[in-house]
Amino acid sequence: MYLYHLLTLTLSTLSAVTAIPTAQSAAAAAKPPAFFLAGDSTTAINGGWGNGFLTTLKSPAWGVNIGKSGATTNSFVAGGYWKNVMTHVKDNVDEFDCYVTISFGHNDQKEASGISLAQFQQNLVNFANEVKGLGAKPLLVSSLTRRVFPSGQDHNATDSLHDQRLAAIAAAEQTGSTIVDLNAASLKYVNAIGNTAAQVYNYGDDRKDQTHLNPWGEVVFGRMVADLVVEAVPAVGDSIVRNETMTALINDGKPV
Ligand SMILES: *[C@@H]1O[C@H](CO)[C@@H](O)[C@H](O)[C@H]1NC(C)=O
Ligand SMILES: *[C@@H]1O[C@H](CO)[C@@H](O)[C@H](O)[C@H]1NC(C)=O
Repeated sequence: MYLYHLLTLTLSTLSAVTAIPTAQSAAAAAKPPAFFLAGDSTTAINGGWGNGFLTTLKSPAWGVNIGKSGATTNSFVAGGYWKNVMTHVKDNVDEFDCYVTISFGHNDQKEASGISLAQFQQNLVNFANEVKGLGAKPLLVSSLTRRVFPSGQDHNATDSLHDQRLAAIAAAEQTGSTIVDLNAASLKYVNAIGNTAAQVYNYGDDRKDQTHLNPWGEVVFGRMVADLVVEAVPAVGDSIVRNETMTALINDGKPV
């Protein structure tokens, strides 16, 4: 009888002791996310979706917009911006679950860039692999759509970044990375709301810039990216503040 009690006691003590490190490692595994944004002006501060996205983050989640106006996948490296992204990852990967959004195409697609579609895709693959090499997670974000509608086609915006979108999808597949298909979502949305409503998000006092976003456009398309990121990476869902009203309007194809 005594032996039985002793054994039971020992076993329960053991299981109590072993339960503690398990709980601790589970807590340690759930590091808060940090987002470092690599991209061109359609991500950058003042005209891109980047800051609209970052403002949806709930502390201790945080992020930095390293988007650079005019950047191609080549010039982003040559100008030291990519190195800056990598430094942020290295400095934070022990404490945070680091994600790097990668969104290019608007400048790469210009003939003057001298970057072929194949090279563009390879550059995206290289970015994704470097992020993975540091123990962080790449999110390949296909290019934000422009809001150019051919005359008489008020619900059929010109699909001018089609090939760049496919390259981003292919690069994600090649590297086993997550695709955040902003191009498809933004094109679908502006087609749903139509030409007139889509121009409301344009940059500049005259709202003639159909590529970049004004402050309200940053909020709306930043929300779209946040929703796409949560859908693709449910683990970060608790770190993003929702706005169900705005999300519903976007999903229903209604102007926000
Ligand atoms: C949209 O535009 C494209 C090319 O400009 C055209 O091929 C397509 O038929 C159009 N779609 C509709 C629904 O009008
Ligand atoms: C949520 O979205 C709605 C619709 O666009 C907007 O009016 C409201 O201000 C937003 N709420 C917050 C807290 O940002």
